[in-house]
Amino acid sequence: MANPNHIAFILDGNGRWATKRGLPRNLGHAEGVKAVERTLNALCELKIPYASFFVFSTENWKRSKEEVDGLFNLAEEYFDKGLEFFNQNNIKVEVFGDLKPFPQKLQKIIKNVCESTAKNTGLNAGFCVNYGGKEDILQAINHLINKGEKNISAQQISANLYTKNFPDPDFVIRTSGEMRISNFMLWQMSYSELYFPKILWPDFNKKHLIKSLKVFSKRKRRFGGY
Ligand code: IPE
Ligand code: MG
Repeated sequence: MANPNHIAFILDGNGRWATKRGLPRNLGHAEGVKAVERTLNALCELKIPYASFFVFSTENWKRSKEEVDGLFNLAEEYFDKGLEFFNQNNIKVEVFGDLKPFPQKLQKIIKNVCESTAKNTGLNAGFCVNYGGKEDILQAINHLINKGEKNISAQQISANLYTKNFPDPDFVIRTSGEMRISNFMLWQMSYSELYFPKILWPDFNKKHLIKSLKVFSKRKRRFGGY
């Protein structure tokens, strides 16, 4: 089977990567950012059209203030410095999730990256921040209700999700061996192939991506048929 059109990554294992080395969790997240950059480069080389990254969930607010603030600082730095990288690599960035609870400065930086890369024509990269699958479906339904729609169809929901400009992921990779969906793209994943490699996210590289593509190529997708 051909390569997937949209690979969705559930990044997991940053904390364990750091703890194993006696380092603070936020250093694991910093290494995780490097893995995102490596993966973006590899996805561009392999000409995968769409990729999304689950970087901050609606549940991640439960973590310590120190860790959450550390994640915000990393995100500020990454999206600020990353603009040049995105443009050099012709990457179009989109963000999925509710940005409102984030610090103003971070919101501005993220919006600027999305606007400044909107005309790029290479890889479409989606970052799921303050994202939850249930919240995504609910905001789509509420948007339709507020417009006065009744008897809402599946197509209408798909067309109003945060991810509306992306095709549904045909392949979902969750690193670190955890076999859970964790409120990720619940609607969009109804027919995705799932893969749970044991590698911790900060160690993920092009070799692992190629191995994952090989796994995907062997899957037989029947969509409920034969
Ligand atoms: C994933 O790594 C990164 C984020 C959710 C921000 P974790 O932080 O969940 O790492 P573990 O699961 O504690 O190892
Ligand atoms: Mg985790």
